Amino acid sequence: MTASLKRIAVIPGDGIGPEVTAEALKALRTVFAAGKRGAEFTEFDWGADRYLRDGTSLPAGALEMLRSQFDAILFGAVGDPRIPSNQHALDILFGMRFGLDLYVNIRPCVLFDRRFTPLRDRAEAEVNFLVLRENTEGLYANIGGQFKRNTPDEVALQEEVNTRKGVERILRYAFEDARSRPRKRLCMSDKSNALTHGHDLWQRAFREIRQQFSEVDSRHLYIDTLVMEMVRDPGQFDVIVTNNLFGDIISDLGAQLAGGLGLSPSANIHPGQVSMFEPVHGSAPALAGKNVANPFGAILTSAMLCDYLGWREQGNALRNAVRSALREGKCTADLGGKLGTREAGDYVAALLSSA
Ligand code: NAD
Ligand code: IPM
Ligand code: MN
Repeated sequence: MTASLKRIAVIPGDGIGPEVTAEALKALRTVFAAGKRGAEFTEFDWGADRYLRDGTSLPAGALEMLRSQFDAILFGAVGDPRIPSNQHALDILFGMRFGLDLYVNIRPCVLFDRRFTPLRDRAEAEVNFLVLRENTEGLYANIGGQFKRNTPDEVALQEEVNTRKGVERILRYAFEDARSRPRKRLCMSDKSNALTHGHDLWQRAFREIRQQFSEVDSRHLYIDTLVMEMVRDPGQFDVIVTNNLFGDIISDLGAQLAGGLGLSPSANIHPGQVSMFEPVHGSAPALAGKNVANPFGAILTSAMLCDYLGWREQGNALRNAVRSALREGKCTADLGGKLGTREAGDYVAALLSSA
């Protein structure tokens, strides 16, 4: 073991998760070998099969193990039609996001080639923004309950949790991130005109923190206006920060503006601590086992993992290889190519090993 050996936990998960994760691993191993980076991968079988076999979703002690023994986690996707409650997926995914306190969900929306956007007459530079999604609270806090279930009088409550600490830390991260980018622009989005308690907290925290970042060109849009503006003129956005649910929704919109879910990477991070990297897409059960899923979202995700480890050169090499493959049309059918998942991954790995 060298001092710089990084330990990476790998959780392929369900559906297309294992297929795209295998290609991300292939790319990572290649780029690490080329750059003489030492990394050790340890795979975990958490997902639907294990849950159906022995009832385990997130094993006892898993979070402590991840925290103490790993630098990063590469995750595929979870979700399986045999488990309609989605319980195992929530245990695993939210278990890590909340349990490891991964409060920033980073979802870049970058158009690699203008052919891939459904918008008319757009240049690549016009879709190049970052969605920063609060990742530990909001409507995802799982606070609520049901009363008189399955009767005509039933009541279902799902509370939205907004804490001063949670809102401030994601806003601060967003301002710092915006400040480090060439355009230095930030848009905070909420629905404070209707949600006058929780989103008023976002408004007040935003107004306070922006005083400390005068070099950032910051503004606010209500979420309904934001989604309209994202379609009308995406070029105006640099960094967008919002709550958990809105971030979930607009990151799929952003993904589509940039070519679809097959290309969209994400990082769930707590700066300085073990963090988790996953493509934005899910387990796409209809595509599973057919060698048709696009592995580039997972490969671009592994590039974000490299950046997080401080290995930006390797991150850039991965992004450049995907960019080249796309330019040459060496991709899966969702982007107009003829390659299967494995063949697209092989193509990227070959580019990386010859670079
Ligand atoms: P999905 O992302 O799995 O699929 C949505 C659509 O995008 C499908 O039409 C699919 O064909 C397409 N797609 C997704 N990934 C693709 C890829 N790599 N290449 C080509 N096309 C791709 O979303 P869904 O269908 O709403 O959900 C399926 C399951 O995944 C559900 O159980 C859901 O809860 C779960 N899910 C998990 C995660 C996660 O683990 N992080 C994220 C989203 C959804
Ligand atoms: C995502 C997914 C998850 C979410 C689902 C699978 C619970 O859609 O990562 O975007 O809502 O966070
Ligand atoms: Mn989502």
